[in-house]
Amino acid sequence: MQQCRAGVVAGAACCLAACGGRTTTPPAFDDISLTIATDVNPAVDIFEMDLEAREGIAHYAVDRETRVWTYNGSVPGPLIDAKVGDQLVVHFTNRLPEPTTIHWHGLRVPNAMDGATAVQEPVPPGGTFDYAFILRDAGLYWFHPHLRTDEQIAKGLYGVIRVRGDSEPEADVEEILVLDDVTLDAAGSLPLHLDDYGALPDDFKRHGRLGDNLLVNGRISPRIAVRSGAVHRLRLLNTANSRYFDLSVPGHTFRVLGTDGGFFEKPYDVDDLVVAPAERYDVMIVPTSTPGIDLPLDTLQLQRAEDDVLAAGRVATFRSRDERPLTARALPVAFPRAEHLPGGAAVEAIVFGEGLQGKDQHFDHDPPLSPGDPVFTINGKAGMEIPPLRANVGDVKVFDVVNQTHEAHVFHLHGFFFQLLSVDGVPVPSDRIVNKDTMNLGQAIHYQLAVRFDEAGTWMYHCHIPEHAEVGMMAEIQVQARP
Ligand code: C2O
Ligand code: CU
Repeated sequence: MQQCRAGVVAGAACCLAACGGRTTTPPAFDDISLTIATDVNPAVDIFEMDLEAREGIAHYAVDRETRVWTYNGSVPGPLIDAKVGDQLVVHFTNRLPEPTTIHWHGLRVPNAMDGATAVQEPVPPGGTFDYAFILRDAGLYWFHPHLRTDEQIAKGLYGVIRVRGDSEPEADVEEILVLDDVTLDAAGSLPLHLDDYGALPDDFKRHGRLGDNLLVNGRISPRIAVRSGAVHRLRLLNTANSRYFDLSVPGHTFRVLGTDGGFFEKPYDVDDLVVAPAERYDVMIVPTSTPGIDLPLDTLQLQRAEDDVLAAGRVATFRSRDERPLTARALPVAFPRAEHLPGGAAVEAIVFGEGLQGKDQHFDHDPPLSPGDPVFTINGKAGMEIPPLRANVGDVKVFDVVNQTHEAHVFHLHGFFFQLLSVDGVPVPSDRIVNKDTMNLGQAIHYQLAVRFDEAGTWMYHCHIPEHAEVGMMAEIQVQARP
């Protein structure tokens, strides 16, 4: 399978082997299909699988092999394709040289299944762990380690979970696009600083690691086959450590149907769409192109910090197949209204801040930070020193979230959805209230959000730029069962 997949992308080179030496023209399209997880359980409502974290080879670039860390041998890892109400059972084995865990990003799971090191002993090399829980919500989710997250995700450890609901919007084509970036040297190897925080350039310590090649489903800027006039539903996920994507297809709009944990009551159209690290969007686009004329999928220039601008780049190319164009079917205009959490006065403030090691902060890290290294804080403290927030099962709480630093951050909450209520005091329109687990925090902007705590345990909230979480920007919410 893997060989076949590599063969398509590698084009002529692989064909030599596969086609017995005959020369053929390289294919006009790249194979961006994800490896699919195999369900070994015949029961219709149980998805059961083996998952192994192990070293492997990725073919990011056509002509180079890259040694990476994988789930079941591929980057992205296997797509888990299930439906609401299914039980997911994952028999996990760690074949890496260091400990790891799996966090199920965005899924509402029992606390012991969450994969955070606060609730689970790391799985040692050679060790196993069984994860099992019910898939409660339709949407696109992902899984990744929750230990040395900055290194392990960047080395290739991430996979996608699609949970189908009872009524999914109709499209002619549905495609999952996993966005990422990677830096490769001439030999195709990942950079050495992936194993050495001390070797990180200052810029990456401040803003997170950035790769210079843009990836879709593990391919550098692939050519993606589309059909002119057809409704394409794109399920977007950004797994990059720190890169924001601001997606645009010139001359086209995206209809935004939904995001992390649900649909918008009123889908809306945008010319470009910012997808923050770890965030998901569910969009539709109707490419109008003809064979021979490519449509670029670009990321636009984006300022994410006072002193840092992300350059524009080519994410992928949409290329028409030589097929009769379709006449567009209608795009969805409405979805059932999600239950809205009650608002009210904020009970607590969550302030994202920053400091300097040896000046106003001292953060214990392995390897130790150097004086002057950035330390990222929540409410003025870093990591374990941040007092946990507290709630009881059943509480709905409103939080003020403020970013007082010089760059954007990404708020992520484990275990629960939140609903954004207002931005700088301006209420979010009621038809845009939606369940989310991940959200961009613009610089100096004040957000108010509501959370219903319906599961006891110790849950993390943190910045999803893992280089920030790693040096302080991660804390706990302790949710007590009611007596
Ligand atoms: Cu996707 Cu705690 O993270
Ligand atoms: Cu951050």
